[in-house]
Amino acid sequence: MTAFDLVIRNATCVSHRGIGQADVGVRGGKTAAIGDLSQAAAGQVIDATGLHLLPGVVDSQVHFREPGLEHKEDLESGSRGAVLGGVTTVFEMPNTKPSTTTAEALQYKLDRALNRMWCDHAFYVGAAAENAALLGELERLPGCCGVKLFMGASTGDLLVHEDETILRVLQSGSRRVSVHSEDEQRMRDRKALAEEGNVLSHTVVRDDQSAIIATQRLLRLARQAGRRVHVLHVTTADEIELLARHKDIATVEVTPQHLTLAAPDCYEALGTRAQMNPPIRGAHHRDGLWKGIADGIVDVLGSDHAPHTLEEKAKPYPASPSGMTGVQTLVPVMLDHVNAGRLNLQQFVDLTSAGPARIWGMAGKGRLAVGWDADYTVVDMNASRTIEDGWIASRVGWTPFDGRQVSAWPIGTIIRGQRVMWDGQLADAAAGQPVRFNDTLRAHG
Ligand code: DOR
Repeated sequence: MTAFDLVIRNATCVSHRGIGQADVGVRGGKTAAIGDLSQAAAGQVIDATGLHLLPGVVDSQVHFREPGLEHKEDLESGSRGAVLGGVTTVFEMPNTKPSTTTAEALQYKLDRALNRMWCDHAFYVGAAAENAALLGELERLPGCCGVKLFMGASTGDLLVHEDETILRVLQSGSRRVSVHSEDEQRMRDRKALAEEGNVLSHTVVRDDQSAIIATQRLLRLARQAGRRVHVLHVTTADEIELLARHKDIATVEVTPQHLTLAAPDCYEALGTRAQMNPPIRGAHHRDGLWKGIADGIVDVLGSDHAPHTLEEKAKPYPASPSGMTGVQTLVPVMLDHVNAGRLNLQQFVDLTSAGPARIWGMAGKGRLAVGWDADYTVVDMNASRTIEDGWIASRVGWTPFDGRQVSAWPIGTIIRGQRVMWDGQLADAAAGQPVRFNDTLRAHG
């Protein structure tokens, strides 16, 4: 009889085969068998009767603020929130202090992640005029998921907004470049439209045209450079239509908050807690994002987890910083949309595991199948719970979804066969590992 390290019994598995009940056996950190394992010997058994087992959820956009901004978040607290929310892997952003623009800065994050990060992880390297020529080397370093380019300024000082410099970045290297697409010049020209104390005017300063113009420019430059791009947190119906015509070179991320909240209501209800870049817009654009999901134009969901303290958020707009937490609420908020019929479970899986695997070529991750990493997000699709600030592990301790009732909940987070979270309880120690990527395996083993 074959022995497994772990057998998860009676789960409703969501995979390429469809949705069906099975046992899952894990050996050596990998999925070793799926089927009827009722007779199999196992070091550990988890009874998952009534629960769904999904391929591990990847959040490919989080800001964990370390180094330099640890009063907002650090790699330990951010990744603790991730696993409490059912997320098994994160890609972390470079707008820390200092920005992650060198090999040393990247290595610093990898060193700090060791034995402190609860989930698997990779780090972005930030594009700047100064490191443009080096990006082709930097993006291939172990633990790096690629280059992040800010076309419009946001938190931190990373910014590359002139066509000529953007082109230099796009011509350096070969992996897909992830882009914050808002037009810096237009936003500077509109800065005076910010009304002191009125956060709704954030959507006027950083209006829909700021995003649309930038994405048009980006696509033109990406074609010119022959480089693939990933457009982060798309916010307009127009960009979805545009990006649908460029799927050969462009992949698309949307966030749960842009799919869930809408102006003006969110600003009335949440004030500056709803302030982020690019902004949450009106219902017309939100509907356009849902159409992008229905039509298969959107490739991934990312949370853009970007914590700021409530004290910082209490400053009157526009002194208030942009960003909100999200890594811990992505799964319950989106599964609630699944239960409401806005997308189905297989679409959710496509957007949170198969999608990231396809875009970044993660080695061994992104599929619930024999031979792949045993990364699982275990969820209860019939759990009525309320999201509350008190549940949020982030150092800032708040969520825009405080008080929101949801109909599904993350119960377990299993990473390479290790139970990292179950029913809100964490494992004894943090053991997240750097993600390996298919196109840099030869260099890094
Ligand atoms: O709202 C945002 N906050 N958007 C970004 O692009 C950056 C982020 C942050 O780091 O605070």
